[in-house]
Amino acid sequence: MSEEKRIPTGIAGLDRVIEGGVRDNTTLLVVGSSGTGKSTFAMQYLNYGLEHGENGLYISMEEPPEQIMREAKMLGFNLDKYYNKELFFFHSKGKDFVQLVDEQLPALVEANKNYSVKTRVIIDPLTPLIWAIQDKQEQREIITKLFYTLKQLGPVLITTEEHAAPGETIGEDVLIPIYMSDGAVHLTYRPIGGAFNRALEIVKMRATRHGEEVYPYIFVRGVGVVVRTTPLISAEDVRKYDEVFDKAIRTAADLGASDRMLERLVYVKENWSYPFSPKETLQIFFESQGLNDAVTKEQLEKRKEKEGSTPETQLDIAELSGGTLQVDDDVIMPDFQDEAVVSDQEEEGLIEIDSLNELEELIK
Ligand SMILES: Nc1ncnc2c1ncn2[C@@H]1O[C@H](COP(=O)(O)OP(=O)(O)OP(=O)(O)O)[C@@H](O)[C@H]1O
Ligand SMILES: [Mg+2]
Repeated sequence: MSEEKRIPTGIAGLDRVIEGGVRDNTTLLVVGSSGTGKSTFAMQYLNYGLEHGENGLYISMEEPPEQIMREAKMLGFNLDKYYNKELFFFHSKGKDFVQLVDEQLPALVEANKNYSVKTRVIIDPLTPLIWAIQDKQEQREIITKLFYTLKQLGPVLITTEEHAAPGETIGEDVLIPIYMSDGAVHLTYRPIGGAFNRALEIVKMRATRHGEEVYPYIFVRGVGVVVRTTPLISAEDVRKYDEVFDKAIRTAADLGASDRMLERLVYVKENWSYPFSPKETLQIFFESQGLNDAVTKEQLEKRKEKEGSTPETQLDIAELSGGTLQVDDDVIMPDFQDEAVVSDQEEEGLIEIDSLNELEELIK
C-alpha cells in the first residue's frame, strides 16, 4: 500500500476500493453514457470537499451556474451557502475554452499559489470541448494543458460522455481523456431490469492498488450514489495468503527453482491484491514454469528408492494443492492433484485408476 495521503472522494463505497481516496493533484475521469449518473458523482465529490473545508471550482461548458445549482438541489445537494464564497464557477462556451485554458486558469493557479486551502475542481462534462476540437493532436494538447493546470489547484474530477459503438467496451471519443487522466472509472447502465443494473468499473488508478470487480451502484436521495463494494482484503486474509506464498516459495526452492524465480515469487507475494487465495494462481504459475513436472511419479519412485523416504517436496506440493489451507468456494481449482496425492493413496492401499476402461475391466 502506498504511504501517500489520500483524499476521500466522498462517493460512498468507492474510497474503500481505491486505498481510501484519490491522490492530491491528480485527475479522475468519470466516463459513462448519458444518464448513467456522472453529474451525481461530480456533485457528491464536490459537496464532500465543501463540507470538509475545501474550496470548489466548477467548470461548465453548457449550463450556467444557476441551472447547475438548481439541479444539484434536486439531487439533494444544497450548495447555496457556498456560492461565490467557497464555490466558484467558470462558465465557458466552445471556443472560449481555449482562452480559459491558456489564460484564465493559469492566472487562477498563480493567484492561489500561496493559499493553503485545497480546491476541488469539477468539469462536468468535458464532452463539448472534445466535440469543439476536431483535430486529435490539438485535442490532446489542450487536454494535457487543462489537466496539468487544474491539478495544481487540488484533486480534479472530470466527466465525459461516451458514445460507445455496439461491441465496443469503451467509446473511441473518450480514449484521449482516459489516457491523459491519472484515474478513470467507467459507469455502465444495462437495461436488463432488476435492482442492480448500474455498475461501476475502475479502468485505471495510477499508483493505487484498486479493486477490479464490477460494482453495482444505486442512487440514494440525500446521499447521491452508493457504490456497492466489498472492502479489499483484510489483515487476516493477508496473513493467510502470505502463508500460502511462503509455502509455495519453500516448495519452489525444494524443486530447484532459480534465485530469480524465488525473487519473483516474493515480489508476487508482496503485490497480491485480490480478495481470494493465491493458491490457484500459484499452481498455474508453477505448472507454466515446469515446476510441477519436476516431480513426476517415476521421479518420486526413484527418489523414494534412493532416499528410502518421502521427499519433502512431495509434502509441500500436496499441502499446496489440496491440503490444509482454506480455498475460496467460488474459485474453481484446476484438476492439479499432484502425483504426490496419488502416491499417498497408493500407500493407503488404494488402487490407482487412470481411465474409465480400467475401471470397467476391474468391475468385470
Ligand atoms: N435519487 C434517484 N433515484 C433514482 N434515480 C435517480 C436518482 N438520482 C438520479 N437518478 C437517475 O440518474 C439519472 C442521471 O443522473 P445524472 O444526471 O447524474 O446522470 P448523467 O450521467 O450526468 O447524465 P447526462 O448525460 O444527462 O448529463 C437520472 O436521469 C435519474 O434517472
Ligand atoms: Mg450530467
